[in-house]
Amino acid sequence: MSFKDSVVMQVFRGEDPARIPVWFMRQAGRYLPEYQEIRARHSMLDVIRTPELAAEVTLQPLRRFELDAGIIFADILNPLIGMGIELDFVEGTGPVISNPVSSRGEIERLLVPAPEENVPYTLKAIRQVSSELTPRNIPLFGFAGAPFTLSSYLIEGSSSKNLEKTKALFRGDIESWRNLQEKLLRLVEDYLVAQVEAGASAVQIFDSWVGHLAPVEFSERVVPDLAKLVHSVKARTSVPILYFGTMTAGLLPHFRSIGADGYGIDWRSTLSDARKLIGDGPVLQGNLDPSLLSLPAAGIDTHVHAVLKDGRVAGRHIFNVGHGLLPTTSIDTLSRVIEVVRGGA
Ligand code: CP3
Repeated sequence: MSFKDSVVMQVFRGEDPARIPVWFMRQAGRYLPEYQEIRARHSMLDVIRTPELAAEVTLQPLRRFELDAGIIFADILNPLIGMGIELDFVEGTGPVISNPVSSRGEIERLLVPAPEENVPYTLKAIRQVSSELTPRNIPLFGFAGAPFTLSSYLIEGSSSKNLEKTKALFRGDIESWRNLQEKLLRLVEDYLVAQVEAGASAVQIFDSWVGHLAPVEFSERVVPDLAKLVHSVKARTSVPILYFGTMTAGLLPHFRSIGADGYGIDWRSTLSDARKLIGDGPVLQGNLDPSLLSLPAAGIDTHVHAVLKDGRVAGRHIFNVGHGLLPTTSIDTLSRVIEVVRGGA
Protein backbone atom coordinates (compact mmCIF):
# COMPACT_ATOMS: atom_id res chain seq x y z
CA MET A 1 0.00 0.00 0.00
CA SER A 2 1.64 3.22 -0.98
CA PHE A 3 -0.89 5.98 -0.32
CA LYS A 4 1.60 8.17 -2.13
CA ASP A 5 -0.89 10.93 -2.75
CA SER A 6 -2.31 10.93 0.76
CA VAL A 7 -1.38 14.11 2.61
CA VAL A 8 -1.78 12.30 5.94
CA MET A 9 0.86 9.75 4.97
CA GLN A 10 3.12 12.49 3.57
CA VAL A 11 3.13 14.18 6.98
CA PHE A 12 3.89 10.88 8.73
CA ARG A 13 6.77 10.27 6.31
CA GLY A 14 8.21 13.67 7.26
CA GLU A 15 7.57 15.16 3.82
CA ASP A 16 6.10 18.60 3.21
CA PRO A 17 2.47 17.83 2.34
CA ALA A 18 0.78 19.45 -0.65
CA ARG A 19 -1.63 20.95 1.95
CA ILE A 20 -2.42 20.44 5.64
CA PRO A 21 -4.41 17.20 6.10
CA VAL A 22 -7.78 17.38 7.85
CA TRP A 23 -10.03 14.77 9.48
CA PHE A 24 -12.05 14.73 12.71
CA MET A 25 -12.28 12.46 15.70
CA ARG A 26 -15.86 11.19 15.91
CA GLN A 27 -16.53 12.41 12.39
CA ALA A 28 -19.30 9.80 12.13
CA GLY A 29 -21.98 10.56 14.66
CA ARG A 30 -25.14 12.19 15.82
CA TYR A 31 -24.60 15.58 14.16
CA LEU A 32 -25.19 13.84 10.79
CA PRO A 33 -28.86 13.25 9.83
CA GLU A 34 -27.86 10.16 7.84
CA TYR A 35 -26.28 8.72 11.03
CA GLN A 36 -29.39 9.60 13.06
CA GLU A 37 -31.48 7.80 10.50
CA ILE A 38 -29.54 4.56 10.96
CA ARG A 39 -29.50 4.96 14.76
CA ALA A 40 -33.29 5.42 14.78
CA ARG A 41 -33.52 1.82 13.59
CA HIS A 42 -30.47 0.21 15.23
CA SER A 43 -28.83 0.49 18.64
CA MET A 44 -25.25 1.74 18.93
CA LEU A 45 -23.99 -1.81 19.62
CA ASP A 46 -25.98 -3.18 16.66
CA VAL A 47 -24.32 -0.66 14.35
CA ILE A 48 -20.88 -1.60 15.70
CA ARG A 49 -21.58 -5.34 15.42
CA THR A 50 -23.02 -5.30 11.89
CA PRO A 51 -20.12 -4.85 9.45
CA GLU A 52 -22.34 -3.42 6.68
CA LEU A 53 -23.75 -0.78 9.04
CA ALA A 54 -20.39 0.04 10.62
CA ALA A 55 -18.88 0.39 7.13
CA GLU A 56 -21.78 2.57 5.96
CA VAL A 57 -21.54 4.88 8.98
CA THR A 58 -17.74 5.12 8.57
CA LEU A 59 -18.22 6.23 4.96
CA GLN A 60 -21.03 8.75 5.61
CA PRO A 61 -18.80 11.71 6.54
CA LEU A 62 -16.43 10.87 3.66
CA ARG A 63 -19.31 11.21 1.19
CA ARG A 64 -20.43 14.52 2.57
CA PHE A 65 -17.05 16.18 3.21
CA GLU A 66 -13.61 16.29 1.59
CA LEU A 67 -11.77 14.57 4.43
CA ASP A 68 -8.22 13.22 4.26
CA ALA A 69 -8.81 10.14 6.42
CA GLY A 70 -11.54 7.82 7.65
CA ILE A 71 -11.80 6.28 11.11
CA ILE A 72 -13.52 2.94 11.49
CA PHE A 73 -16.84 3.11 13.32
CA ALA A 74 -16.66 1.30 16.66
CA ASP A 75 -16.07 2.36 20.24
CA ILE A 76 -13.14 2.00 22.61
CA LEU A 77 -15.39 0.03 24.98
CA ASN A 78 -17.04 -2.71 22.89
CA PRO A 79 -13.86 -4.87 22.84
CA LEU A 80 -14.27 -5.16 26.63
CA ILE A 81 -17.44 -7.24 26.19
CA GLY A 82 -15.34 -10.31 25.37
CA MET A 83 -13.45 -9.87 28.66
CA GLY A 84 -16.71 -10.71 30.43
CA ILE A 85 -18.25 -7.30 31.00
CA GLU A 86 -21.80 -6.21 30.23
CA LEU A 87 -21.85 -2.97 28.26
CA ASP A 88 -24.70 -0.86 27.03
CA PHE A 89 -24.88 2.63 25.52
CA VAL A 90 -27.71 4.39 27.31
CA GLU A 91 -29.44 7.34 25.63
CA GLY A 92 -28.49 10.55 27.42
CA THR A 93 -26.04 8.81 29.80
CA GLY A 94 -23.42 7.24 27.57
CA PRO A 95 -21.70 3.91 28.15
CA VAL A 96 -22.75 1.87 31.20
CA ILE A 97 -21.02 -1.28 32.45
CA SER A 98 -23.37 -3.13 34.81
CA ASN A 99 -20.67 -5.38 36.29
CA PRO A 100 -17.65 -3.11 36.87
CA VAL A 101 -14.57 -4.69 38.42
CA SER A 102 -13.36 -3.77 41.88
CA SER A 103 -11.84 -6.81 43.56
CA ARG A 104 -8.69 -8.77 42.87
CA GLY A 105 -10.79 -11.82 41.98
CA GLU A 106 -12.92 -9.92 39.47
CA ILE A 107 -9.81 -8.69 37.69
CA GLU A 108 -8.36 -12.19 37.81
CA ARG A 109 -11.46 -13.55 36.05
CA LEU A 110 -11.34 -11.09 33.12
CA LEU A 111 -10.69 -12.90 29.85
CA VAL A 112 -8.38 -11.82 27.04
CA PRO A 113 -9.99 -13.16 23.86
CA ALA A 114 -8.27 -13.00 20.48
CA PRO A 115 -9.59 -10.17 18.25
CA GLU A 116 -10.82 -12.61 15.60
CA GLU A 117 -13.20 -14.08 18.22
CA ASN A 118 -13.90 -10.90 20.13
CA VAL A 119 -14.46 -8.29 17.41
CA PRO A 120 -14.69 -10.11 14.05
CA TYR A 121 -17.34 -7.59 12.95
CA THR A 122 -14.95 -4.63 13.28
CA LEU A 123 -12.23 -6.47 11.37
CA LYS A 124 -14.76 -7.26 8.63
CA ALA A 125 -15.91 -3.63 8.52
CA ILE A 126 -12.27 -2.53 8.17
CA ARG A 127 -11.79 -4.93 5.25
CA GLN A 128 -14.87 -3.50 3.54
CA VAL A 129 -14.04 0.15 4.12
CA SER A 130 -10.35 -0.14 3.28
CA SER A 131 -11.15 -1.87 -0.02
CA GLU A 132 -13.24 1.18 -0.88
CA LEU A 133 -10.84 3.83 0.41
CA THR A 134 -7.48 2.38 -0.69
CA PRO A 135 -8.13 2.97 -4.43
CA ARG A 136 -9.10 6.54 -3.53
CA ASN A 137 -5.83 6.97 -1.60
CA ILE A 138 -7.71 7.80 1.61
CA PRO A 139 -6.14 6.21 4.68
CA LEU A 140 -8.34 4.51 7.27
CA PHE A 141 -7.52 4.87 10.96
CA GLY A 142 -8.08 1.90 13.22
CA PHE A 143 -8.08 2.59 16.95
CA ALA A 144 -8.28 1.26 20.48
CA GLY A 145 -8.60 2.68 23.97
CA ALA A 146 -5.41 2.96 26.02
CA PRO A 147 -5.14 0.68 29.08
CA PHE A 148 -5.54 3.58 31.56
CA THR A 149 -8.73 4.96 30.02
CA LEU A 150 -10.17 1.46 29.49
CA SER A 151 -9.39 0.68 33.15
CA SER A 152 -11.29 3.79 34.21
CA TYR A 153 -14.47 2.51 32.53
CA LEU A 154 -13.96 -1.07 33.76
CA ILE A 155 -13.61 0.18 37.33
CA GLU A 156 -16.07 3.11 37.45
CA GLY A 157 -18.70 1.47 35.22
CA SER A 158 -19.46 4.71 33.35
CA SER A 159 -18.00 8.13 32.56
CA SER A 160 -16.78 9.59 35.85
CA LYS A 161 -15.93 13.08 36.95
CA ASN A 162 -13.05 12.37 39.31
CA LEU A 163 -12.03 8.74 38.67
CA GLU A 164 -11.86 8.16 42.42
CA LYS A 165 -12.24 4.36 42.31
CA THR A 166 -9.75 4.11 39.47
CA LYS A 167 -7.18 6.16 41.38
CA ALA A 168 -7.84 4.15 44.54
CA LEU A 169 -6.89 0.91 42.75
CA PHE A 170 -4.02 2.59 40.85
CA ARG A 171 -2.49 3.76 44.13
CA GLY A 172 -3.84 1.28 46.66
CA ASP A 173 -3.54 -2.16 45.06
CA ILE A 174 -0.60 -2.03 42.72
CA GLU A 175 -0.63 -5.78 42.12
CA SER A 176 -4.25 -5.81 40.93
CA TRP A 177 -3.59 -2.72 38.85
CA ARG A 178 -0.64 -4.51 37.18
CA ASN A 179 -2.74 -7.57 36.54
CA LEU A 180 -5.40 -5.42 34.86
CA GLN A 181 -2.83 -3.51 32.78
CA GLU A 182 -1.17 -6.73 31.57
CA LYS A 183 -4.52 -8.06 30.37
CA LEU A 184 -5.48 -4.81 28.66
CA LEU A 185 -2.05 -4.50 27.05
CA ARG A 186 -2.44 -7.92 25.46
CA LEU A 187 -6.01 -7.18 24.36
CA VAL A 188 -5.12 -3.79 22.83
CA GLU A 189 -1.86 -4.91 21.18
CA ASP A 190 -3.53 -7.83 19.40
CA TYR A 191 -6.54 -5.70 18.48
CA LEU A 192 -4.43 -2.94 16.90
CA VAL A 193 -2.33 -5.47 14.98
CA ALA A 194 -5.48 -7.27 13.75
CA GLN A 195 -6.91 -3.96 12.52
CA VAL A 196 -3.74 -3.26 10.53
CA GLU A 197 -3.84 -6.78 9.09
CA ALA A 198 -7.46 -6.15 8.08
CA GLY A 199 -6.45 -2.96 6.21
CA ALA A 200 -6.13 -0.03 8.64
CA SER A 201 -3.38 2.27 7.38
CA ALA A 202 -2.71 4.02 10.72
CA VAL A 203 -3.90 3.50 14.29
CA GLN A 204 -4.80 5.88 17.09
CA ILE A 205 -4.68 5.05 20.80
CA PHE A 206 -7.35 7.00 22.74
CA ASP A 207 -6.36 7.84 26.31
CA SER A 208 -9.05 10.44 26.88
CA TRP A 209 -8.93 10.51 30.68
CA VAL A 210 -5.18 10.14 31.35
CA GLY A 211 -5.05 13.89 32.12
CA HIS A 212 -6.56 13.10 35.51
CA LEU A 213 -3.14 11.87 36.66
CA ALA A 214 -0.26 13.90 38.04
CA PRO A 215 2.79 14.09 35.73
CA VAL A 216 4.90 11.87 38.00
CA GLU A 217 2.22 9.16 38.12
CA PHE A 218 1.87 9.33 34.35
CA SER A 219 5.61 9.16 33.67
CA GLU A 220 6.40 6.43 36.20
CA ARG A 221 3.35 4.20 36.01
CA VAL A 222 1.62 4.77 32.65
CA VAL A 223 4.28 5.77 30.12
CA PRO A 224 6.25 2.49 30.49
CA ASP A 225 3.11 0.51 29.56
CA LEU A 226 2.34 2.80 26.63
CA ALA A 227 5.94 2.57 25.40
CA LYS A 228 5.73 -1.22 25.61
CA LEU A 229 2.44 -1.18 23.69
CA VAL A 230 3.77 1.08 20.95
CA HIS A 231 6.99 -0.93 20.72
CA SER A 232 5.11 -4.25 20.45
CA VAL A 233 2.71 -2.98 17.79
CA LYS A 234 5.64 -1.51 15.84
CA ALA A 235 7.44 -4.84 15.96
CA ARG A 236 4.45 -6.49 14.25
CA THR A 237 3.26 -3.79 11.80
CA SER A 238 4.63 -0.82 9.89
CA VAL A 239 1.85 1.77 10.11
CA PRO A 240 1.96 5.13 11.95
CA ILE A 241 0.75 5.10 15.57
CA LEU A 242 -0.89 8.16 17.14
CA TYR A 243 -1.45 8.66 20.87
CA PHE A 244 -4.24 11.00 22.01
CA GLY A 245 -5.35 12.30 25.39
CA THR A 246 -7.09 15.35 26.83
CA MET A 247 -6.05 17.68 29.66
CA THR A 248 -2.48 16.57 28.98
CA ALA A 249 -0.73 19.97 29.17
CA GLY A 250 1.29 18.89 32.22
CA LEU A 251 2.04 15.46 30.74
CA LEU A 252 3.45 16.59 27.37
CA PRO A 253 7.15 16.54 28.46
CA HIS A 254 6.76 12.76 28.94
CA PHE A 255 5.02 12.04 25.61
CA ARG A 256 8.26 11.52 23.70
CA SER A 257 9.13 8.45 25.81
CA ILE A 258 5.97 6.74 24.53
CA GLY A 259 7.64 6.50 21.13
CA ALA A 260 4.53 7.10 18.99
CA ASP A 261 4.73 8.63 15.51
CA GLY A 262 2.28 11.37 16.43
CA TYR A 263 0.37 12.89 19.32
CA GLY A 264 -3.15 14.32 19.51
CA ILE A 265 -3.22 17.61 21.43
CA ASP A 266 -6.33 19.25 22.89
CA TRP A 267 -7.09 23.00 22.76
CA ARG A 268 -5.85 23.63 26.31
CA SER A 269 -2.28 23.65 24.92
CA THR A 270 -1.04 25.40 21.81
CA LEU A 271 0.52 23.20 19.14
CA SER A 272 3.70 25.29 19.27
CA ASP A 273 4.03 24.84 23.05
CA ALA A 274 3.35 21.12 22.60
CA ARG A 275 6.15 21.01 20.00
CA LYS A 276 8.61 22.58 22.45
CA LEU A 277 7.64 20.09 25.16
CA ILE A 278 7.51 16.98 22.96
CA GLY A 279 10.47 17.86 20.73
CA ASP A 280 11.06 17.63 17.00
CA GLY A 281 10.03 14.58 15.06
CA PRO A 282 6.55 13.38 15.94
CA VAL A 283 3.46 14.56 14.06
CA LEU A 284 1.13 16.81 16.08
CA GLN A 285 -2.61 16.46 15.51
CA GLY A 286 -5.29 18.90 16.63
CA ASN A 287 -6.50 21.08 18.16
CA LEU A 288 -9.64 23.13 17.43
CA ASP A 289 -12.08 23.26 20.37
CA PRO A 290 -15.03 21.20 19.04
CA SER A 291 -17.52 23.46 20.83
CA LEU A 292 -16.62 26.18 18.28
CA LEU A 293 -18.31 24.05 15.63
CA SER A 294 -21.78 24.68 17.00
CA LEU A 295 -21.34 28.41 16.19
CA PRO A 296 -22.49 29.83 12.85
CA ALA A 297 -20.02 29.28 10.01
CA ALA A 298 -19.52 33.04 9.61
CA GLY A 299 -17.34 33.35 12.72
CA ILE A 300 -15.22 30.24 12.31
CA ASP A 301 -12.46 31.34 9.91
CA THR A 302 -10.45 33.27 12.53
CA HIS A 303 -10.30 30.22 14.80
CA VAL A 304 -9.24 27.89 11.99
CA HIS A 305 -6.57 30.31 10.77
CA ALA A 306 -5.23 30.57 14.33
CA VAL A 307 -4.83 26.77 14.56
CA LEU A 308 -3.24 26.64 11.09
CA LYS A 309 -0.79 29.41 11.96
CA ASP A 310 0.17 27.72 15.22
CA GLY A 311 0.47 24.43 13.30
CA ARG A 312 2.92 26.06 10.86
CA VAL A 313 5.08 27.11 13.82
CA ALA A 314 4.85 23.60 15.30
CA GLY A 315 5.40 21.82 11.94
CA ARG A 316 4.30 18.30 10.92
CA HIS A 317 0.67 19.19 11.60
CA ILE A 318 -2.55 17.26 10.93
CA PHE A 319 -5.64 19.41 11.47
CA ASN A 320 -8.28 17.90 13.76
CA VAL A 321 -10.38 18.80 16.75
CA GLY A 322 -8.89 18.67 20.25
CA HIS A 323 -11.57 16.15 21.30
CA GLY A 324 -14.36 14.38 19.40
CA LEU A 325 -17.04 16.25 17.44
CA LEU A 326 -20.12 17.06 19.53
CA PRO A 327 -23.71 16.22 18.52
CA THR A 328 -24.36 20.00 18.26
CA THR A 329 -21.80 20.38 15.44
CA SER A 330 -23.19 22.38 12.52
CA ILE A 331 -22.68 20.73 9.15
CA ASP A 332 -22.22 24.13 7.46
CA THR A 333 -19.61 25.19 9.99
CA LEU A 334 -17.73 21.90 9.62
CA SER A 335 -17.80 22.27 5.81
CA ARG A 336 -16.41 25.77 6.12
CA VAL A 337 -13.58 24.53 8.39
CA ILE A 338 -12.59 21.92 5.81
CA GLU A 339 -12.71 24.50 3.02
CA VAL A 340 -10.44 26.86 4.95
CA VAL A 341 -7.94 24.12 5.88
CA ARG A 342 -7.85 22.86 2.28
CA GLY A 343 -6.84 26.32 1.20
CA GLY A 344 -10.04 27.37 -0.51
CA ALA A 345 -10.30 30.47 1.68
O1 CP3 B 1 -14.12 8.87 15.74
C1 CP3 B 1 -14.98 8.18 15.16
O2 CP3 B 1 -15.80 8.67 14.34
C2 CP3 B 1 -14.98 6.68 15.39
C3 CP3 B 1 -15.90 6.21 16.34
C4 CP3 B 1 -15.66 6.45 17.82
C5 CP3 B 1 -16.73 6.49 18.74
N1 CP3 B 1 -16.23 6.53 20.00
C6 CP3 B 1 -18.16 6.43 18.39
C7 CP3 B 1 -19.17 6.83 19.38
C8 CP3 B 1 -14.47 6.55 18.56
C9 CP3 B 1 -13.03 6.63 18.08
C10 CP3 B 1 -14.85 6.59 19.93
C11 CP3 B 1 -13.88 6.63 21.01
C12 CP3 B 1 -14.35 6.75 22.39
N2 CP3 B 1 -15.46 6.19 22.97
C13 CP3 B 1 -13.64 7.42 23.40
C14 CP3 B 1 -12.31 8.10 23.22
C15 CP3 B 1 -12.48 9.43 22.58
C16 CP3 B 1 -13.22 10.44 23.37
O3 CP3 B 1 -14.25 10.90 22.87
O4 CP3 B 1 -12.78 10.76 24.49
C17 CP3 B 1 -14.38 7.31 24.60
C18 CP3 B 1 -14.01 7.89 25.94
C19 CP3 B 1 -15.51 6.51 24.31
C20 CP3 B 1 -16.57 6.08 25.25
C21 CP3 B 1 -17.87 6.63 24.86
N3 CP3 B 1 -18.62 6.16 23.80
C22 CP3 B 1 -18.59 7.67 25.48
C23 CP3 B 1 -18.14 8.44 26.69
C24 CP3 B 1 -19.78 7.82 24.76
C25 CP3 B 1 -20.91 8.74 25.06
C26 CP3 B 1 -20.54 10.09 24.60
C27 CP3 B 1 -21.67 10.78 23.93
O5 CP3 B 1 -21.35 11.78 23.25
O6 CP3 B 1 -22.83 10.36 24.07
C28 CP3 B 1 -19.76 6.90 23.69
C29 CP3 B 1 -20.80 6.74 22.67
C30 CP3 B 1 -20.37 6.96 21.26
N4 CP3 B 1 -19.22 6.49 20.69
C31 CP3 B 1 -21.11 7.63 20.25
C32 CP3 B 1 -20.37 7.55 19.07
C33 CP3 B 1 -20.73 8.06 17.71
C34 CP3 B 1 -22.50 8.21 20.41
C35 CP3 B 1 -23.40 7.04 20.13
C36 CP3 B 1 -24.84 7.36 19.81
O7 CP3 B 1 -25.59 7.64 20.75
O8 CP3 B 1 -25.20 7.27 18.62
